[in-house]
Amino acid sequence: MVIRILHKPAHLRGTVALLGDKSVSHRALILNSVAQGTATVNGLSLGEDVASTMGCLQATGVVIERLDAPDVVRVVGSGGQLQEPEDVLDAGNSGTTMRLLSGLLAGQSFMSVLSGDRSLRSRPMGRIVEPLSCMGAKIAGRKGGAYAPLTVSGGGLKGIEYTLPVASAQVKSSIMLAGIQAEGKTLIHQPALSRDHTELMMRAMGANVVEDGTTICMEPAQLTALDVVVPGDISSAAFWMVAAACHPDAEVTITNAGINPTRGGILEVLEGMGANVALLNRRVEGGEPVADILVRSGSLVGTEVGGEVVPRVIDELPVIAVAACFARGKTTIRDAGELRVKESDRISTTVSQLSRMGACIEELPDGMIINGTGHLTGAECTSEGDHRIAMALGIAGLLAEGRTVVGGAEAASISYPTFWDEVDVILAGTGA
Ligand code: S3P
Repeated sequence: MVIRILHKPAHLRGTVALLGDKSVSHRALILNSVAQGTATVNGLSLGEDVASTMGCLQATGVVIERLDAPDVVRVVGSGGQLQEPEDVLDAGNSGTTMRLLSGLLAGQSFMSVLSGDRSLRSRPMGRIVEPLSCMGAKIAGRKGGAYAPLTVSGGGLKGIEYTLPVASAQVKSSIMLAGIQAEGKTLIHQPALSRDHTELMMRAMGANVVEDGTTICMEPAQLTALDVVVPGDISSAAFWMVAAACHPDAEVTITNAGINPTRGGILEVLEGMGANVALLNRRVEGGEPVADILVRSGSLVGTEVGGEVVPRVIDELPVIAVAACFARGKTTIRDAGELRVKESDRISTTVSQLSRMGACIEELPDGMIINGTGHLTGAECTSEGDHRIAMALGIAGLLAEGRTVVGGAEAASISYPTFWDEVDVILAGTGA
C-alpha cells in the first residue's frame, strides 16, 4: 500500500495537465472494435480502467496497438464479429468495462465470462442483466444474476423499449451496444440525462441514434471506424478546481478539459458556491466541447446539490464534499444514492474519512450534509481502495492545517495515474 503525506502549501499556482477522459476512452476503444475500418485514438486515458477494457477487447481477437506515444493507439475494427475469448475477461476495478462489454458481448454468438476485483464483484449487475436478458441474451451471475462473475451467451437479440430505473450512462450504453446488434428498434427512457458520449460517438460512426428529451431511439447499425481525439478528463480536473477554489492563495489553470454539458455539473455546482472559475479557449475537438479552466481562490458559500444535476456530477461528489467543508454555511447533497454502489460506498467513505479530518459532516441515506467550518485538520486517512476517495483526500490534505496521511494512494491510478506527480509539481512550485 502506498502512503502519501501532504501539507498545505503557502500558495497553489501553476498549470495542470489532464489525461484523456476515461469515459470517452472506453467508448473509443469499444465502438471502434466492432466498426468497419481502422481508427487512431489520440489522448487515450492511461488509467487502469481503460487498460482493462483494452485487455478484454484484445482477448476477443481485436487488434489494438500502441503507436508512437503511450496515449495513441490504433484499433483495427472487426466489422462486428468478435472471437470467443479463451479465458475469463478481467474487468479489474472497472464498472464501465463490465457493463459496456456485457452489452457488446450480448450480441455475439459465443460464450464469455466477465469478472473483476472484489469491489467490482460486489457492485450491482442486475441492472444490465435484466434488459440484456429481455433482448434475448442468456446471462447468468452470482445470486441470480445480481453480481459478477457473469457468463454471457449472446446472439439473436431483439430491440426493446426499456425505462431505466436509475439515470446510469453505463446501463444506457450497455443496452445501446446490444441495440446496434439487435433486430429492430431500441427505445430507452431515462429518468434524467446522463453522460451522452455513446450517443455522440455512435452517431459520428454512422448509427441512427435520435434523442428526444430523455428518450433515445436507435436502430441496428454497422459502425464505421472513427479517429477520436479524447478530451482531458473533467472528473480529474474537478480535484484541481476544488483545490484552487478553496485555497486562500491560488491560481491554477487546467488545460484541455472536456466540458460536455452532460458532464459539466461540477462547473455549475462550483459556480453556485461562488467559486472563481473561468473557461478559456473554448473550442470543439473530436465532436466534444473543450476548454482551459482557470480557477482562483474564492469565498465559497454552501449549496444544495440534488435532482437532475446529480448524474452530471456523480463522480465529483466526494471532492465537492471537500469544497463544502471550506464554504460558509450548509451544503446538502441529496438524490445521490448511486454513490453507495460505486467503487466504494462513497457516502460512507467520504463521511468517515472527512470526519477524521474534523469535518462537520453527516450521512443521509442518499447523500450527506456538510456544515462548512472553513477548515480541516490533517489526519490519517485511507482511500479504502477507491480512486476518487484517494484523490479527494489528497486535495483535502493540500487544504488542511497540519499533516495529512493518505493510505491506499495508489488507487488514483485507476483513472488518473499522474495525479500524485501533478501534486508534486504544484508543491515544487511553492517551495513546499
Ligand atoms: C460512467 C458512468 C458513471 C460514472 C462512471 C463512468 C461511464 O456510472 O460513475 O465513473 O463511463 O459511463 P453510472 O452510469 O453507472 O452512474
